[in-house]
Amino acid sequence: MSRNLKLGIFGFGVVGQGLYHVLEETKGIKAEILKICVKNRSKNRALPMKYFTFDKDEVLDNPEVDVVLELIDDPKAAFEIVSAALKKGKAVVTANKKMVADHMTELCELQQLYNAPLLYEGSCCASIPIIRNLEEYYDNDLLSAVEGIFNGSTNFILTKVFAEQKSFDEALAEAQQLGYAESDPRLDVEGFDPKYKLCIILTHAFGLFAEPEEVVNYGIQNISDFDIKIARERGYKIKLVAKSRKVDDKVMAMVMPQFVSPKSQLYKVEREFNGVIVEGAFSEHQFFMGKGAGGYPTGSAVLSDISALTYAYKYEYKKTRQDSGLQLTRDFQIKIYLRFDHTVGIDRDRFDKIYEEYKALDNQYIIGEINFDRLTSSEWFRHPKVNIILLEPEED
Ligand code: HSE
Repeated sequence: MSRNLKLGIFGFGVVGQGLYHVLEETKGIKAEILKICVKNRSKNRALPMKYFTFDKDEVLDNPEVDVVLELIDDPKAAFEIVSAALKKGKAVVTANKKMVADHMTELCELQQLYNAPLLYEGSCCASIPIIRNLEEYYDNDLLSAVEGIFNGSTNFILTKVFAEQKSFDEALAEAQQLGYAESDPRLDVEGFDPKYKLCIILTHAFGLFAEPEEVVNYGIQNISDFDIKIARERGYKIKLVAKSRKVDDKVMAMVMPQFVSPKSQLYKVEREFNGVIVEGAFSEHQFFMGKGAGGYPTGSAVLSDISALTYAYKYEYKKTRQDSGLQLTRDFQIKIYLRFDHTVGIDRDRFDKIYEEYKALDNQYIIGEINFDRLTSSEWFRHPKVNIILLEPEED
């Protein structure tokens, strides 16, 4: 049964303000903002000061607040707020992917123990309703893969670099100015942000609780003009792709840049858009696309979570009951482009197959097939003069 929800908000940045406007404009939702707790006392606020407090207990201890919206940046403080709110039996909505990914097991336990729901659709791919789809719509499909572009900022940067020949730094500055990037943009550029989202998705797709440290993320920071030239010559774009796939009774998961051909649906995903491909035994191939960053797209996901709370929705973590026992693996084959210079010693015998080799004064590359574990355990995997880009086997 629907009821009028009273909201207490933590944080009034890009997402908080986006949500405020979304709430103002939407017609159907029965929810009102009681208090907004913020940190910075000197900042000018777009709303009357009566809405604001600097004391977290004014929200957490307020018996009238039945939903706490955690929309701050700091994952440590966010976890303290979220766990305190759940312990008080309040429903919580968050968009903080690092916090959720880092504490998934504890957050599940807290929800159960205190019978309080925690929803976090806004934490993954902003406007794309992927978590609720995995949880509810694909609850009985036998999912084999979930992959795609899970980070708006890096996709924005790569689009600008490819389509408009902008420099990496210029494109990053624009992504920051538009409110897409994290406060520490290395989280985007080095692939941590999409990894946190992938870890959350692993729980809802495969019932797997993965610690972010267990999943390899390789970012876009080493992509050079040479790599871009190679991509262009072959008709590819480069996208930062998060991948998870069932391999027998294990799951492979990683975040890496990938050469994407026009045959892939991800090829057309540009700017701050995200794209998610879901593969299931019965549904087969599904593709979702939508804005993956920004105040309104994230606000829309938070709004939908608030709306879901009006009919007492909670995640049941259905896949954790169906697919129990699945574990992560690094024992699988991938096809890569490995670019390096003459100062880096690459042991070619790590490769199972070499399809192509190129050697010039400045740049050398190998295109070949390699075991993921053997790749990630090599000394040169994180070398600053090395760049690695995935190739889909069928795309070469
Ligand atoms: N920095 C994130 C991104 C924000 O660019 O995708 C949305 O999670």
